[in-house]
Amino acid sequence: MIKAIKFMKYGLNLSQIFLTLILMIMISGCDQIQPSNPKSQTDSQQIPHLEKQGTATRLIVEGKPFLLISGELHNSTCGGFEFMRPVWKQMARKNLNSVIATVSWELVEPEPGKFDFALVDSIIAGARKEDLKLVLIWFASWKNGGSIYMPSWVKKDYEKYPRAKDENRKPLEILSTFGDASCNADAEAFAALMRHIKEIDSVKQTVVLIQVENEVGLLDNMGKTPGNARRDFCDPANAAYNSQVPMELIDYLVKHKENLFPELYKVWSTNGFKTAGTWEEVFGKSEIKTDRKDWQFYSYYTEELFMAWNYARYVGKVAAKGKNEYPLPMYVNAWLKQPFSYWPGRYPSGGPLPQVMDIWRAAAPSIDFISPDIYMDEFNWVCKEYTRSGNPLFIPETRGGAVGAARALYVFGEFAAGCFAPFGIDNDRFRINDPLDATYALLQNMSSLILENQGKGKMKGILVDSVLPEQELELGDYRIKAVLSVQRKPLIAGGLIIQTGSQEYLVAGKGLDIFFIPKDTSMRVAIDAVDEGIFKEGVWLPERRLNGDETHASTWDGTGLRFSDSKVAIQKISLYGFK
Ligand code: DGJ
Repeated sequence: MIKAIKFMKYGLNLSQIFLTLILMIMISGCDQIQPSNPKSQTDSQQIPHLEKQGTATRLIVEGKPFLLISGELHNSTCGGFEFMRPVWKQMARKNLNSVIATVSWELVEPEPGKFDFALVDSIIAGARKEDLKLVLIWFASWKNGGSIYMPSWVKKDYEKYPRAKDENRKPLEILSTFGDASCNADAEAFAALMRHIKEIDSVKQTVVLIQVENEVGLLDNMGKTPGNARRDFCDPANAAYNSQVPMELIDYLVKHKENLFPELYKVWSTNGFKTAGTWEEVFGKSEIKTDRKDWQFYSYYTEELFMAWNYARYVGKVAAKGKNEYPLPMYVNAWLKQPFSYWPGRYPSGGPLPQVMDIWRAAAPSIDFISPDIYMDEFNWVCKEYTRSGNPLFIPETRGGAVGAARALYVFGEFAAGCFAPFGIDNDRFRINDPLDATYALLQNMSSLILENQGKGKMKGILVDSVLPEQELELGDYRIKAVLSVQRKPLIAGGLIIQTGSQEYLVAGKGLDIFFIPKDTSMRVAIDAVDEGIFKEGVWLPERRLNGDETHASTWDGTGLRFSDSKVAIQKISLYGFK
């Protein structure tokens, strides 16, 4: 009405004013980012969220499940406008549907309370233009254990924002989890970021998931003397370590006693399932094992549990503050224990590793799941450790190339993984002839079928290599044997197999021979038909009938499929039995 009176001053009649107002409303709807209705935007149904289907946890984006066929950019790619500009097209060309990109605290809050989100806007606009979804990493208090991404005003004020200390009282370049001011400052900045993302993105929803911090945990990079930085030894940390285990943690242990991670259960039970006492009274003294052959043993466990509690409390507070503004799903990632760095302090002590998963769950309910960064050879072992108590598998960092291509098929099939993302995906060496590109195109092509079958027990993964060239699995009426291609042995091969009917299977793979062996040994099995094809808008389109040399029909080896080493493909097989 006030606007109408103003227009009358310019000599417009009522119908002209009405038309002008309608036009203004329409134009503002097109050009500007829709202002968010706070009520509907905080409704978790309206924004990306996690949902269960059977045993799987799926990321729901715009009302539909979404598989993150992804890659993580190098740490500094998004540190400058011009540098990041060409990256988005490059990522779309590599057939990613999403990118994991970084936002750093030092760049968004150069002065206390003064925020600059121009780089964030550029990341979102660039990804959106190429129809890519984004997972944003909040590089703030910690990155790979260290505190290198915090703003200068935090770095230099070490009295207000204190550092952790090792056993020799040497301050480390790592914020202490016992600095309340650090936690509050980080949480305030993260809340401002989430508020901004909500303002500019809650309608188009380019940002779908958030990683809070990066590979946290106490780490002495020098690490020459095992044990120096296994926990924080600053005064408040020493006092807390010698105080009572927090009641929230005890309550969690009691409530989840039967489902605790076995090693945690063991240390608690060895000490008589105490429900009160100091950390060492409840969990025992940390054990020191430095022999490499014991690398999977949980050395220094009590001190690691203590650090996990304190990191998780801090990170959980940061995440909760951000979720309060815009509740996107949030996760943390871990630098793993490895054969050459297997004691806490040599890998970040207190980080979200499987052995401390219960502690993270108890201390940080705002974190939706924990994720492994898997660079090591024991890939399968890590996936199993991370999923055995219902934690969904999202792999935000791993190896790419041929190894990544094989493993991507495997994890989406075997673990109903929600994300696979090789690190440094914008690296020049991945620019041309990257085997991952074709596998990603195929995964995107069949993603609706994968999503439909997640968590229902009808989908499995295949991963064979020169060390373990054969794998056997069961699906429906068959034992299925997968063998590294007998024709031209690749070093590694991966596949994904879905049972689509009682005698029908859809298999995606490369460099593999697949044999079907009936469980009922009185029957013989043969191929009815094999087609190679693609999916278009979720519908299977056979492209050619395979027979003869292109299958294992009527061969001495068995009955089944051949996947050449030169091309990743999808084949549908139907079988019949005879006597
Ligand atoms: C793990 C870290 O999380 C990444 O940010 C990156 O630094 C890689 N390591 C480098 O390999």
